[in-house]
Amino acid sequence: MAIFIWQDKYSVRVKETDEQHQKLIEILNELASAMSRGKGREVLQATLENMVIYTKQHFNEEEKYFDDLDYPEADQHRLEHKKLMEQVLTFQAEYEAGRVNMTVEIILFLKDWLIKHISETDKVFGQAMNKAGKF
Ligand SMILES: [Fe+2]
Ligand SMILES: [Fe+2]
Repeated sequence: MAIFIWQDKYSVRVKETDEQHQKLIEILNELASAMSRGKGREVLQATLENMVIYTKQHFNEEEKYFDDLDYPEADQHRLEHKKLMEQVLTFQAEYEAGRVNMTVEIILFLKDWLIKHISETDKVFGQAMNKAGKF
């Protein structure tokens, strides 16, 4: 079950960033489908781990450009990444400790966060990248 289908409206007009977002969406879809198929905790835990690792990597990839760009939104953008990472890491720790379950609400929270962040914050980043000649 793909709960999140990539569409052109999510493009930030920077190829590598779009590709990373597509990969994130793919992992989120894997998590959703593992959950809906009733896969065991080990599978869900491994997929969640994948998501955490890839999200960290992706945030670092975006942030490494911040200093080079004339990018007034850098602090706010970094803060959004940091907050989400903290929330996800907290959830991961709780999940691994067996204190919470993977739920549709968690998946939808991640989906909504991604849509909002890509559509608003990352689009502004994409514009700054384009201005610097990166597409
Ligand atoms: Fe992003
Ligand atoms: Fe971002």
